[in-house]
Amino acid sequence: MFTRSICTTSIAILSSRALAQYISLSPATTVPSGASNYVDPSFAGFGIEPSNLFSFTGGDDTNTFSVQLLQNLADYAGLPAHIRLGGNTQDYMIYDASQTQYKWTANTNSRAQGVIAADSMIIGPAYFKALDRFPKGTPVTFGLNMAYIDNDWEDRIVKMAQGAVDGMKNVKLYSFEVGNEPDLWLKNSFRSAPWTGQTYTTQFLDRCAKLYERVLKPANLPSAFFEPPATASTIGTTFEIAQLVDDGIMTGRDGNNFMTAWNQHDYFYFIGVTPTPLTLDDLMDLDATNTQFAYWEKQVKAALNTGLPYVLREMSSVGPIGMPGVSDTFGASLWTLNFFMYAATLGIQSVQMHMTANSNASAWQPIPMYGSDTSFVRPQYYAHAAVAQLIGNGNGTTQISVLKTSNVGATYSGRIRAYAAYAKDNLQALVLINSKLAEASQDKGSFTFNINLGSANANKDVFLSYLTADGGDSQKGVTWNGLSYDDITGQSNVADATVNVVTADGQGKVSIPIRDSQAIVANIGWQLGVNLVLKPDPTQSKKSSAATTSMPGASNAVYTSIMAIIVALAMVVAR
Ligand SMILES: *[C@@H]1O[C@H](CO)[C@@H](O)[C@H](O)[C@H]1NC(C)=O
Ligand SMILES: *[C@@H]1O[C@H](CO)[C@@H](O)[C@H](O)[C@H]1NC(C)=O
Repeated sequence: MFTRSICTTSIAILSSRALAQYISLSPATTVPSGASNYVDPSFAGFGIEPSNLFSFTGGDDTNTFSVQLLQNLADYAGLPAHIRLGGNTQDYMIYDASQTQYKWTANTNSRAQGVIAADSMIIGPAYFKALDRFPKGTPVTFGLNMAYIDNDWEDRIVKMAQGAVDGMKNVKLYSFEVGNEPDLWLKNSFRSAPWTGQTYTTQFLDRCAKLYERVLKPANLPSAFFEPPATASTIGTTFEIAQLVDDGIMTGRDGNNFMTAWNQHDYFYFIGVTPTPLTLDDLMDLDATNTQFAYWEKQVKAALNTGLPYVLREMSSVGPIGMPGVSDTFGASLWTLNFFMYAATLGIQSVQMHMTANSNASAWQPIPMYGSDTSFVRPQYYAHAAVAQLIGNGNGTTQISVLKTSNVGATYSGRIRAYAAYAKDNLQALVLINSKLAEASQDKGSFTFNINLGSANANKDVFLSYLTADGGDSQKGVTWNGLSYDDITGQSNVADATVNVVTADGQGKVSIPIRDSQAIVANIGWQLGVNLVLKPDPTQSKKSSAATTSMPGASNAVYTSIMAIIVALAMVVAR
């Protein structure tokens, strides 16, 4: 028995050693070359399909659920998330000032061309009143109808643009997209041949020139207010950035330059277009994201070389409207967190994750659908919350740099990502992702990140914020930083008040194990999300060096004010 017992023990030790997987990382303690610029607080945004706007804003009554979910992110990041109001349906819409309903109406006199006619929907002033319910200052890229080409096209597009300029009072009109995915316009009969990047460029500039003269200039807005080309695919088309530059798109007209950014679209996977099948495990292989996006990486470089920003205004895990069991799971939330970090490191200025009312890839379900009699939050939203808190943590100075994690062995190949976040030029946080799929019902392994934070961070407390759920396949029960979001009100609740702290050793080293299908943001010095108004001064109070301490069960705002009282007391005592 004795022998056997020893034998069992040593097998256990051996096998746990064999399974102990880890990586050692030494991020630079000040911003390294190759890090992103300051990440725009509105960076991690959303696209909304124009025909579905009222599902998100509400019609006659405000959809307070959507508004609260957007407000949470604005509170975290410091500014509201950037919204792109665009998609196929922008090219079906005409503006009529006498249409005052909180819904779009069908045009019974539709005469325009197109498989779905370019004048089939009518919107009016209520469209912008509804949009104005979103958080104050929300930057909006508005998609204009370029498909419409009847003789009165100029008046039509001017009316729509004027409606947008006049109608957005609480939110902020940021730019115009002119036409959605023109590279597909031969297929949907919006145009007949010849239709190429060259003809598109001419027609784009025709519209920009009229819109500047008649709408932007009178409103004291600049001519550089437009984002071309908003293509569905750049690969093998005549709409690539270099081609459009050759076509003269940057030259503008009459001394006016119209370009403010290069706008492209992508999806990780598109049902009916991507030839191979897709499983949740495939989505969670993060190497596949790099492979899928490789061509866009080249476009980003080409864009930045022209001196203009690159914006990814339509993106998602699965298009056109998601895939149940994949895009609506916690695994998709981990994919989203990684995608935002990856996009930031490429120098992409803004990313909009596309939403429709019926998409299983929308970050939230704004109206009841799919067997639920209420609205609800999808796991993806929790990744937006994580990114917003990470960005807000740097108060406008957050920069992201990717750490090399390619050498993690076969078991974790493609499943491990690490990013360093800098604030005010110094190492501030680490985003650590373990996207190895472990389902809720399965036993889960873990992967350890051994991180050398440098002697500047010796003996410092590092606060761990978890993006977690029971498993990669979970659709409910997700938390970020101990918070969950209510399916009716959109407000945050404290689901887990534990404050997780590890203390760096005398050389600045910490060891952070992360369960399979989980991510952690490790922030040096304070818990993420509590410092926008207050950064606790570490010299004021000596915190427990225990790995885990408990924080009072309270909302973030309450916790912040409790911290304010504690620090105020500490200051009184110090005096
Ligand atoms: C969305 O997911 C639900 C299950 O939650 C499913 O019934 C529905 O068919 C899905 N919709 C689409 C368009 O895939
Ligand atoms: C955040 O930045 C603004 C200016 O960029 C500054 O006025 C403010 O004090 C900063 N807040 C904190 C908490 O550092």
